Amino acid sequence: MISKETIQRIMDATRIEEVIGEFVSLKKRGANHIGCCPFHNEKTPSFYVSPSKGIYKCFGCGKSGNAVGFIMDHEHYTYPEALRYLAQKYNIEIEEERMTEEQKERQTERDGLFHVSEFAQKYFADLLYNDEMGRAIGLAYFHQRGLSDDIIRTFGLGYCPDEWRNFTDHARRNGYSDEVLEKSGLTIFKEDGKCYDRFRGRVMFPIFSISGRVLGFSGRVLSSEKQAAKYVNSPDSEIYDKSHTLYGIYQARNAISKEDKCFLVEGNVDVVSMHQSGVCNTVASCGTSLTTEQIRLIKRFTPNVTVLYDGDKAGIKAALRAVNLLFEEGMHVRVVLFPDGEDPDSYAQKYGSTQLQEYLRTHEENFVAFKTRVLLEDVEQDPIRKSEVLKEIVNTIALVPDRIEQQDYIRLAASKLRMNEQVLLQELAKTINLNIIKQRKEEAQKQSQSTTPPTPAVAPPSNVPPPLEPEPDDYELMRQSSTYRAPEQILAAERPAEAQEEKLVRLLLNFGNKELPEEMTDDEGNTFTANIPVANIIVEEVVASDLTFDNKLYQQLFDLYRQAVETEQPLPDANFFANSSDLMLRNKALSLMVDSYSVSDLWLKEKHIAVPSIESRLYKDVEESVLSFKLKKIDQQIEALSYVMRECKNEDEQMIHMAKHQQLVELRKAVCKLLRRVVV
Ligand code: CTP
Ligand code: MN
Repeated sequence: MISKETIQRIMDATRIEEVIGEFVSLKKRGANHIGCCPFHNEKTPSFYVSPSKGIYKCFGCGKSGNAVGFIMDHEHYTYPEALRYLAQKYNIEIEEERMTEEQKERQTERDGLFHVSEFAQKYFADLLYNDEMGRAIGLAYFHQRGLSDDIIRTFGLGYCPDEWRNFTDHARRNGYSDEVLEKSGLTIFKEDGKCYDRFRGRVMFPIFSISGRVLGFSGRVLSSEKQAAKYVNSPDSEIYDKSHTLYGIYQARNAISKEDKCFLVEGNVDVVSMHQSGVCNTVASCGTSLTTEQIRLIKRFTPNVTVLYDGDKAGIKAALRAVNLLFEEGMHVRVVLFPDGEDPDSYAQKYGSTQLQEYLRTHEENFVAFKTRVLLEDVEQDPIRKSEVLKEIVNTIALVPDRIEQQDYIRLAASKLRMNEQVLLQELAKTINLNIIKQRKEEAQKQSQSTTPPTPAVAPPSNVPPPLEPEPDDYELMRQSSTYRAPEQILAAERPAEAQEEKLVRLLLNFGNKELPEEMTDDEGNTFTANIPVANIIVEEVVASDLTFDNKLYQQLFDLYRQAVETEQPLPDANFFANSSDLMLRNKALSLMVDSYSVSDLWLKEKHIAVPSIESRLYKDVEESVLSFKLKKIDQQIEALSYVMRECKNEDEQMIHMAKHQQLVELRKAVCKLLRRVVV
C-alpha cells in the first residue's frame, strides 16, 4: 500500500512528455507534443501528448490516459508497479501506509490464499510433465484434445492425481495450514475430520487475475462417466469471486486492447483452443452465466464484444441473454453462431485455425440481424407470431442506453422485419415506459418490505414476490409519470442534438472552472456583477430548462459536472478521467480535452490569421452554446408534435396539440431573438 501523499508527490513530479518520450519520439506542435502511437501501427502521427493537462490521446486508435496509465498499458504493469516505476524515475522515496489490525488480518488471509493457489498451480503443472501418471493421464488427455505443449504452458494447465489426499499431503508437508487449504477450496474437510482433494482425478485449468495471479481452479473429469460433474470449480473466497473473473483475461488482455475487440466463448477449452488458433482476444465467463461485473472487466479494454455460441437451442438462448446484459452496459455487440453441435474448440480441431478465423470473419452478425434471423426462422409469414418477434426485438433495443444507437437499431430492425419504422418506434416507447413502471413497482415493493417489520405469526407463503406484470391501469399511470416518454418524444431523438451537446460538454471539460462576470440582482433589486464559473452557468441553464442529452456519453459527462456543482465539490479534471475505469467515458473526455487545443493551433498556422483566443470569446461561446442547445431541443419537439398532429384523429386532442404547438413556436421565437443578440 503506497500512501496517498506519496502518490500525490509522484504525480506532481511526473512530466508526461518525459515519461512517454522514453518510448515514443515526440515533436512539439503548439501546446502539444505529437508522435506515432506505440499502441497501433501508423506512419503519420496521431498520438498527442498534452503536458499542461498531463494526458495523452491517440486519435488513430482512441487510446488515452495519464502517465501512470501509459506505463501500465505500455509496460503491462499493475497500478502499484507503474507508480514505483515513476517514483524511481523521479527519485521519490516510497512511503508505505500503515494498516489497521483488521486490514492486516485480511491481508494475511489474502496472502495465504494467493500463496497456496500459486503453490498448487505449480504442483499440478509440474506433475503434467514430470510425473509418470501425470504424463500418461493428464498430458495424454490434453494432447488427445489437440493442445500443444506451448499452449498448455501458456495457460499453466495441470493434473491432480486420482488419489484422496495427494495434493493435500504435499501442501501440508510444505507447511500450508488446514485452514488455508480449506478456505482456498483445494481441500474438502468432512465433519468427522477426514479430508480429501477437491480436484482429484481431474485436469486442471488455473484461473488467473488480470495481472496473472492464480485465483482459483476449474477441473475437468477425464472419464465420461455420467455421475461426476464435468467441471468442478473453486468456491468463492477472499481472493476469488467467479462473477468478477473471466477465464483467459490475463492471456487475452493485450490482444483485446490491440484488436479493440473481445470474443466471448462458453468454455475453458474453447478459450485455450481459440488462443492456439491465433485468436488471442478470447475469454469465457468462469462457469457462470455472464455477469455485469465480468462485462465491466472487458469494458476496461474495449467496448466491442463478439459473442460466440453453439448454434443449438441452449446456445442461442445463452447468446440472447448475454446480448441483453451487454447492451445494458452500453457495449457494441456482435454474434457468431457455430453450426449446431459445434463449439469454437470442436470447430477449430475439425477444420484448423485458418478455417476458424475465416468462419469468424464471415459469420459475424450485428445483433439485430442475428436476433431477427433466429426468431423469424420459425415464424415464417404468420403475422401474429411476427408481432411477437417484433416485441422481443424491441425489448432488447429498449435496453440500449444511448438513444442515437437505439435509433440505428430500430432502423435496421425495421428493414429486416420489412415493417414500418413508426410501428417499431411506438413499440419502443411502450416498452421503455413499461420498464419504468416495472422498476417503480419493484422499488416500491422493496421499500415496503424493508419498512414493515416482519410478522412472525403468519409466515408469508413464500419469499418469491408476485410477478410484476403491468395491469391495464398502468398505461394511465405511465402517461402521468414524469419520466414518461411518448412515442413522439422518442421519435424526436431521430435528429439528435449531438453537435450542440458536444459543444456544451467541451466547454465544461475545458473551461468549467473559468469564472465569467454575470449581472445579478439582489433582493432589493440592485444589480451587481458576480464571477460565476462556466460549469455553474451551464449546469443551471440545462437543469432549469430540464434538458436531456441524446448522446449517452455526453449525458454521463454532464451528470458528473452537475453533481460536482450541486455538491460544491471540485470539478472533474483530466486526471479524474484518466483514472476512470470506464474506457468509453475516459476516451471521450480526454479526446475533447486534447483536441480543443490542437485544432485551434492548426487553424492559426494554416490560415495565417489571428483568431481571437477561445478564452476571449468564452462568454459568447457559453451563451451561444446553451441557446443553440435549447433551440435544437425545441425544434425536436416541434417536429415530433407535427408528426403526432398529422396522425391524430380526435378533434379534442387535436386542439390540445395545436395549443402546445403554438407555445413551442413562441418559445422558439424568444430563444432565436436571444441567440441573434449573442451571435451578432
Ligand atoms: N461448466 C461448469 N460446470 C459444469 C459444466 C460446465 O462449470 N458441470 C462450465 C465450464 O466452465 C465449461 C463451460 O461451463 O467450460 C461450458 O461447458 P460445456 O459446454 O459443457 O463444456 P465444454 O467447454 O465444451 O467442455 P469440453 O469441451 O471439455 O467438453
Ligand atoms: Mn467443448
